[in-house]
Amino acid sequence: MNTPSTLDDVRDIVRRKYGELALLATQQRKPCCGTGSGDDRITRDLYAPDQTGDVPESALLASLGCGNPTALAELKPGDTVLDLGSGGGIDVLLSAKRVGPTGFAYGLDMTDEMLALAESNRQKAGAENVKFLRGHIEEIPLPDASVDVIISNCVINLSGDKDRVLREAFRVLKPGGRFAVSDVVTEGDLPEAVRKDIESYVGCVAGALDKEDYLARLSAAGFVDASIEVTRRYTFSDLGESCCSSQAMAALTPEERERLDGRVQSGFIRATKPA
Ligand SMILES: C[S@@+](CC[C@H](N)C(=O)[O-])C[C@H]1O[C@@H](n2cnc3c(N)ncnc32)[C@H](O)[C@@H]1O
Repeated sequence: MNTPSTLDDVRDIVRRKYGELALLATQQRKPCCGTGSGDDRITRDLYAPDQTGDVPESALLASLGCGNPTALAELKPGDTVLDLGSGGGIDVLLSAKRVGPTGFAYGLDMTDEMLALAESNRQKAGAENVKFLRGHIEEIPLPDASVDVIISNCVINLSGDKDRVLREAFRVLKPGGRFAVSDVVTEGDLPEAVRKDIESYVGCVAGALDKEDYLARLSAAGFVDASIEVTRRYTFSDLGESCCSSQAMAALTPEERERLDGRVQSGFIRATKPA
């Protein structure tokens, strides 16, 4: 099935997929970004044991990220943090601990099942400086210049309008505020069979931006000092079911499979709103 063309269609398909994955996590079955299997090279082993000791097991089970933005974002006590596409809430709960009682952590997600799971995890963690918001990352329901740090984990690749997400992130950040996001990125073209595959899209691969393109779009949105640090590189076999549907996989030539090696990566993307 080909990728949908309108923003609403993309949202519907992504919401359905992540609603199902939230329910799997609620049943204590570890889902993974797009695959539903428990041994995914993209999502596994992202958090160190000293971090995870403090969050409910159910938040860890629901983790569908591709990096660990809270470990890299240098959050400070008193910061206001916003997590775009907060899922089951793990990065919001970790951020809330880092910013402490004088800070605040918002999570934003469009999928009701994820929001319910995140709120249940918030209650289990006893976190008071946390709020989960229902909405779209393309229309962030917060005022201008109200956030110190934007984090996100494997979500912007899923948006049907990434420029709008970056403009919204810029709008809600305070002057001097930081964009500190983990996401899947690419280096070089992906085969057309993968780029057009909806399973690859919801699996966080087909919608990933090329690194150069990501940096150019951040700059167009107004950000400065943008950089991308590669945290993981995937071979074709690492990607497994996240790569694409069985139909798209069958359509790949041996050369295309080989060329996929290393082109899909997890990156940590940093940028700043000028002071
Ligand atoms: C791959 S999961 C990542 C969840 C979380 N960040 C984590 O690391 O576990 C993607 C999440 O983003 C949400 N999402 C995707 N597109 C969105 C959009 N346009 N607006 C709001 N939420 C979105 C989904 O509902 C899902 O919870």
